[in-house]
Amino acid sequence: MGQPDWAPEGLDLSRPSVARAYDYTLGGAHNFAVDREFARQLLAAVPDMRITARANRAFLHRAVRFLVQAGIRNFLDIGSGIPTVGNVHEIAQETAPDTRVVYVDIDPVAVAHSRQILAGNTAATAIQADLRRPDEILEHPEVRALLDLDQPVGLMLVAILHAVPDEDDPFGIVARLRDALCPGSYLAISHATSDRRADEMDEITRMFKQTTTPTTTRTRAEVLRFFDGFDLVEPGLVWSPQWRPDSPEDVGEHPERMMMYAGVGRRR
Ligand SMILES: C[S@@+](CC[C@H](N)C(=O)[O-])C[C@H]1O[C@@H](n2cnc3c(N)ncnc32)[C@H](O)[C@@H]1O
Repeated sequence: MGQPDWAPEGLDLSRPSVARAYDYTLGGAHNFAVDREFARQLLAAVPDMRITARANRAFLHRAVRFLVQAGIRNFLDIGSGIPTVGNVHEIAQETAPDTRVVYVDIDPVAVAHSRQILAGNTAATAIQADLRRPDEILEHPEVRALLDLDQPVGLMLVAILHAVPDEDDPFGIVARLRDALCPGSYLAISHATSDRRADEMDEITRMFKQTTTPTTTRTRAEVLRFFDGFDLVEPGLVWSPQWRPDSPEDVGEHPERMMMYAGVGRRR
């Protein structure tokens, strides 16, 4: 099968990839028929998925701006996805050109496309690695070369932890990453939940089983556990549109519709 030049060799196109389906949902072009079909089925079953994806992306943008304001100049963005409008390095380097960013994703298309976009940017790179093996990320030569782990880091785990099932010890993984960061570092998380709209979320979880990264939703109390060792900054762990909105109108009447919690914590 002929593949576009951005697609790495040997891709598994038998199953949809969440990275590529998310890209399609956000209006991107780095996806295949299997991903588009999956995204269309998802949107047909749960039409709010599109605004959920946008609200999640908007949280990521606000969190990066907040962290740059807080003085963060090192970002480790794990589960970064396929570059789309407003990537971490673009937002951060707009205000602080010296900001260094390492993107990490398990999906080869996400990494290949990120590397293409970042060609020539000496302050940002992308590596293919698995969050479930945090030591490989922390010891990766490109992470070591670009990030100064003696300085505070902005660790972005945005819409990824629900891709790590309990049997892979997500809390232990986040603790391992936390322990590698110095005090004053920050952790930004968004996470899918079934606390509200359980029927829709069950349907999403059922459909995600066919992807390369199935979903595990968590309760608010469970998501809070990821911030062990961090002090949550205001307004705490909230529905994604409620986290420091640019304007009150952006929150809408039913922020719980987004089915995602979001929060940022500062490492003690
Ligand atoms: C929904 S996208 C989120 C992209 C971006 N963080 C955002 O919020 O806009 C989730 C990303 O996590 C990646 N991912 C899932 N499991 C992963 C793992 N174990 N290690 C690294 N990346 C993973 C997927 O490939 C996908 O690109």
